[in-house]
Amino acid sequence: MLIRLEHIEKTYGTADHPVPVLHDVNFAMHEGEYYAIMGPSGSGKSTLMNILGYLDTPTKGTYYFEDVDNSRASDTKMARIRNEKIGFVFQSFHLLQRRRAWENVALPLMYGDVPKRERRERAEQALLEVGLKDRMDFYPTQLSGGQCQRVAIARAICTRPKLLLADEPTGALDSKSGQQIMDIFDALHARGMSIIMITHEHAVAERAQRMMHIYDGVLSGGDPV
Ligand SMILES: Nc1ncnc2c1ncn2[C@@H]1O[C@H](COP(=O)(O)OP(=O)(O)OP(=O)(O)O)[C@@H](O)[C@H]1O
Ligand SMILES: [Mg+2]
Repeated sequence: MLIRLEHIEKTYGTADHPVPVLHDVNFAMHEGEYYAIMGPSGSGKSTLMNILGYLDTPTKGTYYFEDVDNSRASDTKMARIRNEKIGFVFQSFHLLQRRRAWENVALPLMYGDVPKRERRERAEQALLEVGLKDRMDFYPTQLSGGQCQRVAIARAICTRPKLLLADEPTGALDSKSGQQIMDIFDALHARGMSIIMITHEHAVAERAQRMMHIYDGVLSGGDPV
């Protein structure tokens, strides 16, 4: 199993004023699978994604990644897992405006000890995969929204992660650009990438192998663990 969540709970707030957000979330996913998570605003989707991506820790329960429970690992170790194994794509791209497309893509490689020439080569390869090799030297302001999202996907995959997490990747795009992003996800999945994508749009979620739903922090539709 790539991922296994057992009885995950997340509560924000204080002991006096707890704000429960996730309730007994259970699911498992094999390597190479492509899942979508749908749910209304405030239902806990991003909270769940932050836990999956080691940006946050569960209050209770166990999260196994590659059959290892890292939930009590140090911040440094979690940062390393995040950097080496997980790629992120967000609704609002999160590109650095003063860096060229390829420099944005190569950014996650700065944390490893990849030499500069190889960083540029790997960024170029990732940009080729999203059809933007000819825009390598452009700045984000010179790119369309859809192209910016493709740069963000290239950045997410250039470390060759095990898991790609996408939080509303088409949320800020027109439908044609959104289609292109979905086509890229299909291609990544076809070559073995494991993907979990959060979306509000049913037509987008239908591109995945499995659709899960979350309402008020309760997840349904996942494989029983
Ligand atoms: N750091 C935090 N502290 C306190 N409450 C939080 C925190 N982060 C999220 N919440 C609460 O948790 C609930 C779920 O938030 P979350 O961001 O996971 O929703 P979402 O499903 O991603 O919504 P959207 O579709 O609007 O992005 C919300 O009620 C939110 O107010
Ligand atoms: Mg959200």
